[in-house]
Parts: sequence; structure tokens; C-alpha cells
Amino acid sequence: MAQLALYRAWRPQRFAEVVGQEQTVQALKNAVRQGRISHAYLFCGPRGTGKTSVAKILAKAVNCSGEAGGEPCNQCFSCQEITRGSFMDVIEIDAASNRGIDEIRDLREKVRMVPAQGKTKVYIIDEVHMLTTEAFNALLKTLEEPPASVVFILATTEPHKIPATILSRCQRYNFRRLTGDEITSRLRMVVADNNLDIEEKALELIARRAAGSLRDGLSILDQCQAYCSGRISREDVLNILGLVDDRFLADLFSCVLDGDIGGIIGSIDRAFAEGKEAVQFLRESSMYLRDLLVAKTTGELAQLSLVTDEVRPVLLQQAGRVGVPEVLAALKKMMEVSVQLRFNESQRFVVETVFLDLATTLTPGEHAAPAATQAPAARAPREEIPWGRVLDMVKERKVTTHALLASGRLLGIKDDLVLIGYKKGFKFHREKMAEKENRDILLQVLEKILKRKVEVEFVLLGEQPENDPVVQKAIELFGADLVEIID
Ligand SMILES: Nc1ncnc2c1ncn2[C@@H]1O[C@H](COP(=O)(O)OP(=O)(O)OP(=O)(O)O)[C@@H](O)[C@H]1O
Ligand SMILES: [Mg+2]
Ligand SMILES: [Zn+2]
Repeated sequence: MAQLALYRAWRPQRFAEVVGQEQTVQALKNAVRQGRISHAYLFCGPRGTGKTSVAKILAKAVNCSGEAGGEPCNQCFSCQEITRGSFMDVIEIDAASNRGIDEIRDLREKVRMVPAQGKTKVYIIDEVHMLTTEAFNALLKTLEEPPASVVFILATTEPHKIPATILSRCQRYNFRRLTGDEITSRLRMVVADNNLDIEEKALELIARRAAGSLRDGLSILDQCQAYCSGRISREDVLNILGLVDDRFLADLFSCVLDGDIGGIIGSIDRAFAEGKEAVQFLRESSMYLRDLLVAKTTGELAQLSLVTDEVRPVLLQQAGRVGVPEVLAALKKMMEVSVQLRFNESQRFVVETVFLDLATTLTPGEHAAPAATQAPAARAPREEIPWGRVLDMVKERKVTTHALLASGRLLGIKDDLVLIGYKKGFKFHREKMAEKENRDILLQVLEKILKRKVEVEFVLLGEQPENDPVVQKAIELFGADLVEIID
């Protein structure tokens, strides 16, 4: 069964159905009621906040034969035709499309013709900032001598790109991002109306991730509906969107604050194993840092962009451990790295490196609670691993495992983490070695020799290990003497 996308099915048809944008809606309704319609309106605001919807409601209201209190009736011929998009006097132009340019050229001639079907011709020009200079000039000419019974509604997400000459001829309305609560309550209506089964937490997550755009919220809900049979859970939403869980990020940042290198690398490993994308991962990490900054500076937790109620206490606790300059520096670093990432093939390194870097940047500042202070770079007394013996004992157990291990190199040990590096061409060896069977043999041998349980991590090195970001970081954190580069 072909189904109308939720965001279309739920396009508001009357001013009263619009979520938020109260002043705009009120002003436009009054204007219709009092017959004081301007020749040109400019609707500015983020995507998915109701600009096109309100433009169409206004177009209906000014053409409606049963208008009451400024609202269109949605019953008369013109209302129905406008809803359907087939009313001749409501002309929608997408300035972003190639045709947009021709349509604007056309407009100058046709605009003077009297309305064919209705009372008022309405031109809705979407993404108006995309018009060429030539098209803007054509539009300006028309706005300078506006023909009677024509209304222009220009909509844009980027008002700063619109020439001042145009701006000065329009009545401007700013559409705002919708709040999480506004989005949640509209989503609840949609859920009830469509008999959807969804966890409350999942709904909150969708609203949070919609970031102020109701269209995005509805689209996400649509995807969930398409992919899930049965109850939609919070996990489903995370998976569908490829998002990193805020709980996961909170844990990762706790590792960062603790200088827990093993924890950091382990977490990143898990995220990549689950198929998370590096770019998205860093984007979300930046959002987390931003939330940390918000919690730190304003304590205004309603403004959080990623962290949910459940994880708030952890965020607050972390906020108590860091200083504002450190978080800012971390955020800046994260953004720089996001840019690098696009041009870098070994994306995972970049991610690892930035987090290892943060483990030094985000050291608890003077704001920190003393108990929480744990210097990340505290140099443990040097611990030696008799690598030759390890290799020998592994060989006794399994020759093939020995071959795999011998193509890597010992980078060092810190606390309970043994780091083993593989050069670029040895990716296969590294992956094989990381498989449970081989890893377990190594772990048993290490336990025998070191007389305690340890963890082991296999990392890929760059062409020149000395220049490899992970190795460099390891040197910084473990101390150069702990990291051997043997060729
Ligand atoms: N304020 C709102 N009230 C009710 N529904 C809304 C609102 N904003 C967006 N929506 C929902 O999102 C859909 C898209 O909204 P609309 O096209 O009006 O957004 P827009 O601001 O024009 O976005 P864009 O800048 O991407 O064109 C609507 O069909 C509706 O389902
Ligand atoms: Mg629009
Ligand atoms: Zn009507």
C-alpha cells in the first residue's frame, strides 16, 4: 500500500494547526481578517519549521470564499485546489531548481495578468537565496511596482544571502526552531493517530535528534515505522540513524577524564565494530562536548542537544571535573579533526588520536574535585615484557599464531593494556591475530609471564611507525622508553 510520508500527511492546513511560530501565525491571521495583506513576505528560518506550510495556508486564506477569523475553510473550491497544488493562481517556484530561473523570467510578464481562478495570485518562492543575480533583478523590478492582487511569499533558510534591496521590500517573519517538547507532543499525536507502538524514550530521542525541525522528527518516525515490526525501541532509533548512544559517549568521556587509555581504545573499537561511521562519531562527540560546555557554563540543561535525561547526572558530574577553557580547546580540536577526516583514509586513527589527545586536554582543571583527579600521563614504573619469551611460548602453542604475532611489534604496556602494532601491509595479520582463538593464546601466555590478567590491543600503524599518530600519542602518554619501535 502506497503510504503518504508522515510529514506530508501531517502538513498543517490551518493556522491553528501550526506548532509554535505564535507571533507569525497571529500576525498573518489578523492581516487576513482585516484585509491588510502585504505585497511581499519573507519567511526566514531553519528547515522543517513550517515556512512552506504557513505560506500555503496564507495562500488559501487570501483566496478562500469561506474564510473566517483569518483561517481558510479548507472546503471551498480554491482551498481544495490549493491543498492539492493544482490551483492556477498559486504558483510555487523552487528557486533551487534549474527551472526556477526561467520561472522568474516568466514571472515578470505573467504577474500582470489578472488572477485566473481566484481573488489573489500568490507566488511562493522557496529557497529564494538560490536565485541568480539576474533573477533577483527581475524579482526586484516586480517588487518595486507590485501589481494589484499579487502576493509574494519568499522563503529561505539563509536570509543573509538575500540582497538588501529585496529584503527592504518584504515584511519579514522569522521562524524559530521548535522545542523538544513541541516536537514530542506533535509526535505523540501522530503516534496515537497511526496506532504506532513506540517507547517513550525512543520518542524523546527522536525529538531530541530532530534538532528543532518537525519535518525531521516526522521523517525519523517514518523510517522507524518502516524498519521496525512491533514496538519501536530506543535502540531501534539509534540503529536506524546510525547514532552513537549518549550513554556510550558519557562512558567514553569518563575514560577520557580518567586518562583510561585502554577504555578509550576499547570503546572506539566497539563503536567501529558496530559499524559506526567516523564522521558521524566525531560529529556526535562534538555535540557531547557542546553539551558539556552548556552544562558547565549555563547549567541550563533544557538546551542540551544530545544528552538525554538519563545521562544528565553523568554529564553534570563530568562538568564538575573540567574547566571551560579545556572544553573549548577540546571542542576546537574535535572540529579541526572532523575536517581532516574527510581527506583521510585511515579515519579510525584520526578518531583514536583525537580522543587520546583529549585525554591530555581534558585533564581535570582547577575546577576539579580532588578525589576525581587522576593524572592521565602519570608515568607508571617501567614494566618490561620479555617479548622473545612471549613469542617462544606462543610458538609452542600454535605455530600459525606465532607467525601472526611475529609480524607485529610490541609497543608497550601500561597498567593492564598491552599495545601491539602492525604496519600498514599487515592489516590481515592484525585482524587474524585479533580473532578470539589467537588472541586467547596470547592472553594466556601473557598471564603466565606477567602473573596477572591483562588486555591486549592490536593497532594498525602508518607507513613510518615513528610518524604514526597512534604511536606518537602512545609515546606521549606512556613515555618514549615504554614504546619500542623495532624495525
Ligand atoms: N510549525 C509546524 N507545525 C506543524 N507542522 C510542521 C511545522 N513545521 C514543520 N512541520 C511539518 O514538517 C513538514 C514540512 O514543513 P515545511 O515544508 O512547512 O517546512 P519548511 O520550513 O518550509 O522547511 P524547508 O526550509 O526545508 O522548506 C510539514 O508538512 C509538517 O508535517
Ligand atoms: Mg519549505
Ligand atoms: Zn476555503
